Amino acid sequence: MDVESSKAAAMKAASPMKHKRRNVCLGVTAAVILLIFVVLLILGLTVFKPKQTTTTVDSTSISDLKVSLDIARMRVDINISLDVDLSIKNPNKVSAKYKNSSAFLNYKGQVVGEAPIPGGKILADKTKPMNITLTLMADRLLSDSQFFSDVTAGAIPLNTLTKIHAKVSLFNLFKVRVISTTSCDLVVFVSNRTVGDQKCKYKTKL
Ligand SMILES: *[C@@H]1O[C@H](CO)[C@@H](O)[C@H](O)[C@H]1NC(C)=O
Ligand SMILES: *[C@@H]1O[C@H](CO)[C@@H](O)[C@H](O)[C@H]1NC(C)=O
Ligand SMILES: *[C@@H]1O[C@H](CO)[C@@H](O)[C@H](O)[C@H]1NC(C)=O
Ligand SMILES: *[C@@H]1O[C@H](CO)[C@@H](O)[C@H](O)[C@H]1NC(C)=O
Repeated sequence: MDVESSKAAAMKAASPMKHKRRNVCLGVTAAVILLIFVVLLILGLTVFKPKQTTTTVDSTSISDLKVSLDIARMRVDINISLDVDLSIKNPNKVSAKYKNSSAFLNYKGQVVGEAPIPGGKILADKTKPMNITLTLMADRLLSDSQFFSDVTAGAIPLNTLTKIHAKVSLFNLFKVRVISTTSCDLVVFVSNRTVGDQKCKYKTKL
């Protein structure tokens, strides 16, 4: 009788113990998962926080310049090729991707040249240099009297415009899309074939 009752008591006691152990186990697992989550969140908000990529124009030079003026008919045949040295900086701890885009050459708000910028990837903390050649399509300005007088005066005001769409993503969880626009006003001096007065404006938009 005594033995039986003590066995029963032992069995009753064992069952809550098992429950308790399972609860502790679940609790620890939940805490570990929560901790991993918090660590990822903190990393995502600090070290790996996506930052904007920036595009900078390092220099612009003339690689080709040929002018022929037809004074009698006030027409100008001109070929200008500009070499634009750009660099795109990725300040992030992860790589950034950017889409196919274009660089434009403008004369008084009119597009007179275009060059493709093929899409690509920039590794973490790296700056990617890029050389683009923009060629003026003179046929669009053949009988533009303002252009004719700028060329005869020897100073042609032009503008280069690039727009880069970049994407930075961390574990597909923290994502940033950036559009960085670079617009440079410059003057091409015909007599000495130089680029002067270059003023660039940079804009980034998230
Ligand atoms: C500009 O280039 C075109 C085609 O490449 C050529 O026909 C023209 O003669 C060139 N103009 C000058 C002034 O060299
Ligand atoms: C980007 O341009 C390349 C050629 O320069 C082309 O093969 C590719 O399909 C383009 N990608 C997109 C997403 O348009
Ligand atoms: C771009 O051109 C400059 C000289 O104008 C050269 O030093 C540089 O290496 C070139 N960069 C690339 C990526 O071709
Ligand atoms: C080129 O000529 C323009 C005016 O004709 C002048 O302002 C500029 O300083 C010259 N540039 C160089 C590098 O000589």
